[in-house]
Order: sequence, then structure tokens, then C-alpha cells
Amino acid sequence: MKQKIKIWWEKLWLPMNIKWFVGIPVGGFVAFFFGILFWGGFNWGVESTNSMEFCISCHEMKNTVYLELQESKHFKNHVGIQATCADCHVPKDWVPKMIRKVKATRELYHKAMGTIDTLEKFETHRLELAQRVWAEMKDNNSLECRNCHSYEAMDLSLQNRQAQRRHTLEWYEKTGDTCIDCHKGVAHKLPEGY
Ligand code: HEC
Ligand code: HEC
Ligand code: HEC
Ligand code: HEC
Repeated sequence: MKQKIKIWWEKLWLPMNIKWFVGIPVGGFVAFFFGILFWGGFNWGVESTNSMEFCISCHEMKNTVYLELQESKHFKNHVGIQATCADCHVPKDWVPKMIRKVKATRELYHKAMGTIDTLEKFETHRLELAQRVWAEMKDNNSLECRNCHSYEAMDLSLQNRQAQRRHTLEWYEKTGDTCIDCHKGVAHKLPEGY
């Protein structure tokens, strides 16, 4: 046994056959190539779960949230910028995005259970769902909103007095208010009872 190990050990340190030296970069290249294919395919798959069609495929409920979005300024406006479901509900950065996707598997479960598959059921759950969204936005300082809006880019001189005072870092530092504290219901109808 000891002998065998010794031979194996010595073999390990023998100069390598030239063929292997070619094999290493070729193997590396092949791995790299498949890595890119896999990675690209994976991210493509994830991206396709960010499309409005995908979200609406479940959030039809006679199209409540989608219909409401269409009536809001975030769907159609004079500057031609449209906010899609994922713009407000899915983080842009890779790691937080993956965390959101994993959390979203609960939506698969509730889809299967039919938790919100009728208008009535949706309305009974709506406040609870909205509160979850508000809590998330409060938690991340309304990051999704700030992907498009920022105080720095606001021309405060075009806003009214109330807005001017509140859209500042000073206000935020004093009160901790983030966008969602003051701007609920910018894309959908506010839940009943709120
Ligand atoms: C497989 C069906 C399905 C798909 C696809 C789907 N959802 Fe949902 N979603 C649900 C269900 C069911 C619930 C209710 C979950 C509950 O009752 O806890 C829900 C809840 C939500 C909520 C409420 C807050 C929360 O975290 O539960 C938001 C916001 C939401 N979905 C956004 C989206 C967005 C944005 C997309 C597209 C990126 C999407 N959903 C795709 C089925 C789906
Ligand atoms: C994809 C970019 C985008 C995202 C994300 C976005 N907005 Fe907007 N928002 C806009 C644009 C563009 C307008 C201008 C519409 C107009 O003035 O006609 C607007 C208008 C508004 C307005 C004024 C009109 C209204 O509906 O009252 C408020 C308030 C607002 N956004 C708040 C928010 C909040 C809060 C969030 C996060 C929940 C958010 N926005 C996310 C692009 C975005
Ligand atoms: C402390 C409350 C408060 C906070 C926090 C706040 N806003 Fe506002 N915002 C207001 C008020 C008040 C107005 C004026 C509303 C009106 O005139 O009807 C306003 C108006 C706006 C408008 C419309 C401006 C216009 O003149 O048309 C946009 C867009 C907007 N806010 C986006 C945001 C975004 C994005 C954030 C977070 C980065 C944010 N706000 C944070 C209170 C706030
Ligand atoms: C401009 C940002 C914005 C866009 C775009 C947007 N949402 Fe929302 N969504 C919100 C906010 C903010 C809430 C929390 C409740 C509220 O304030 O209206 C919310 C709440 C929800 C809820 C919880 C139930 C409720 O009505 O409160 C669902 C489900 C939902 N959104 C799905 C969607 C889907 C599906 C789309 C695309 C068709 C979409 N959202 C587009 C900002 C947005």
C-alpha cells in the first residue's frame, strides 16, 4: 500500500506529456464557453420573468392592478417613459433580484392555491399585499422609485412649495420619510380600508 502511494506520488511529479499541456487551455476554453452559454441562458430566463406579460399572466384578476397602472401617469405620460411591473417591484442588482425571485416562489404556491384568483378574493387580500409592498419599500428607502426619480434631478423650482420642502435630503434626515411614505397608490388604486 505504502509502495503504491509512493509510486503514485512520484508519477504526479513527473514532467507531463505535452498532450496534457494542450489539454489544459483547451479544457479551460470549453468550460469557459459552456459557462457563458449557461450564464447567458440563465440570465435570459430570469429576465423573461421580468416582462409585464409574465406578471400579467397571473395578475389578471380581471386585470385590476394592470388596468389601474394603465390609467396612471406611470403608464403613459408626456415624456414617454413607462414604468413596468418589474421597474417598481423587482430590484435591478443581481443579488437582491435573485432574492426577490426566490421570495416570489410563494406567489407560485398561492397561484396554485387560488388565493387571489377572483376579484373578491383579491380585494380581501389586497390590503395585506399592499402592506407587504409598503414595508419593503420603507425598508430599502424606496429604492425602486429612485431608479427613475432622484431629488438631485428634480427641478424644485417647477414644484409647489410643499413638494420643494419635502424633496430634500434634509427632510429625509430629519423625518426618515421615503417616497412611499408620502406617495402611496401611484400605480394602483389604494386598497379599501386603508
Ligand atoms: C405564478 C403566478 C404569478 C406570477 C407569474 C406573478 N405573480 Fe405576483 N403574486 C401572485 C400571487 C398568487 C400573489 C399573492 C401572494 C399571497 O397571497 O401571499 C402575488 C403577489 C404579488 C405582490 C404582492 C406583494 C407580495 O410580495 O406578495 C406583488 C407586488 C406581485 N405579486 C408582483 C408581481 C410581479 C411584479 C410579477 C412579475 C415580475 C409577478 N408578481 C408575477 C402570483 C404571481
Ligand atoms: C421607470 C421609471 C419610474 C419608476 C420606477 C417610478 N416612476 Fe414615478 N414617474 C415616472 C415618470 C416618467 C413620471 C412623469 C409622469 C408625468 O409627469 O406625466 C412619474 C411621475 C410620478 C409622480 C407624479 C405623478 C403622479 O402619479 O402622481 C409621482 C408622485 C411619482 N412618480 C412617484 C413614484 C414613486 C413613489 C415610485 C416608486 C413606487 C415611482 N414613482 C417609480 C417614472 C418612474
Ligand atoms: C414628506 C413627504 C414626501 C416625500 C418623502 C416625497 N414626496 Fe414627492 N411630493 C410630496 C408632496 C406634498 C408633493 C406635491 C403633491 C401635490 O401637489 O399634489 C409631491 C410631489 C411629487 C411629484 C410631482 C411633482 C410635480 O410637481 O408634478 C413627484 C414626481 C414626486 N413627488 C416624487 C417623489 C419621489 C420619487 C420621492 C422619493 C425620492 C418623493 N417624492 C418623496 C411629498 C413627498
Ligand atoms: C410606479 C410603480 C409601480 C408599477 C409600475 C407597478 N406597481 Fe404594483 N405596486 C406599487 C406600489 C407602490 C404598491 C403598494 C400599494 C400602493 O401604494 O398602491 C403596489 C402594489 C401591488 C400589488 C399588491 C396589491 C395592491 O394593489 O396593493 C400587486 C399585486 C402589484 N402591485 C402588482 C403589480 C403588477 C402586476 C404590475 C404591472 C402590471 C405593477 N404592480 C406595476 C407600485 C407599482
